Amino acid sequence: MDDTPLAYRRALADYITNPERETAWISPIGLDESLEYLVDLPDRYDTVDDGYRIADLGSGDGTLTVALAEAYPEADVIGIDIAPRYLQDAVRDYRENTGRSNAKAVGGDVYEVLPELEPFDFIYAVNMLQDASDFPAAVETVADATRDDAYIGATFTDEEAKYLFADFLDYDEEEDAEYWKFEDIETEEMAVSFKQRIIPESEAVAAFGEYGFEPVDRTELKAEKRYLQDALNILDPDNDIDADELEPSYPFYLFYSGDINGE
Ligand SMILES: C[S@@+](CC[C@H](N)C(=O)[O-])C[C@H]1O[C@@H](n2cnc3c(N)ncnc32)[C@H](O)[C@@H]1O
Repeated sequence: MDDTPLAYRRALADYITNPERETAWISPIGLDESLEYLVDLPDRYDTVDDGYRIADLGSGDGTLTVALAEAYPEADVIGIDIAPRYLQDAVRDYRENTGRSNAKAVGGDVYEVLPELEPFDFIYAVNMLQDASDFPAAVETVADATRDDAYIGATFTDEEAKYLFADFLDYDEEEDAEYWKFEDIETEEMAVSFKQRIIPESEAVAAFGEYGFEPVDRTELKAEKRYLQDALNILDPDNDIDADELEPSYPFYLFYSGDINGE
C-alpha cells in the first residue's frame, strides 16, 4: 500500500537532516549515550578484524556511519541513503580529518543497492525499516545481504513506540495494520505526505526468523526531547503537544543469524 514516491522521501530527508537547521531526526543517534550503545555492539558481540564489513542503512546525516568508522578502523563501513547529501559531507570530512578511507557513502534506494554491496557482518537499520512499503520484503533484502554469522540491529516503531506521534495514528482495515499518517508536511521543495508502519514485535521477530535471525537483545534507546519537539512542530505547526511530557524512546532489536548457544 504505502507508495510514497522516493522524491517525497528525499525532500523530507533533505529538509530534516540539514545540519544548518540545527534539527535532527528524532532518533537515538541524536543522543550520545544511545549512539555509544549502538557503536559498541560489534565489539561486544563479535570480533572485528580486517575485512569486517558494516552497513548503516538510511544513514541520514551520517552520524552513525562516521562514528562506526572511527571506532573500527579495521572495518569497512558503508552508509546508504536516498538523500545522501549530508551523509556524503560527513564521510568526506571524516576522510579528510582522519586520513582514513574506511567509510563510504552510497546514494540510492537501500533495497536496490544492497544486493550490489553485500556481504556484511553487521547491518544497522536505525529508524528506517518502518518506511518500507513491504516490511517482510525489506527484511528479506537486508537478511540476504549478510554473511553466515551476522548481526542486524534495528529500531522501528513497535506497539510501545506508537504513542510518540499519537495524534497521527491511523488504522488500515484492508491491511489490518496501524500507521502514522503524515500529510502535507511543508519542506523546502514540496509538500510531503507519507505513512509509517507500526510494526508489532511479534511481526518483526517472525519476519527476521524466516531468514534464520533470532533476537539476542532488545533494549529501549532514548532520543533527545528537543528533537521530538522539533519533529512535532514540523509535522503539525499548530500542535500544542509538549515534548517535555513525553519520553522519546525507541525499541532496539539485535538479531543474530549464527548459533546463539554455540561459540
Ligand atoms: C528517520 S531517518 C533516520 C536517519 C538515521 N538512521 C537516524 O536514525 O538518525 C530515515 C532515513 O532513511 C532514509 N531512507 C528511508 N528509506 C530509504 C530507502 N529505501 N533507501 C535509502 N534510504 C532510505 C531517509 O532518506 C532518511 O535519511
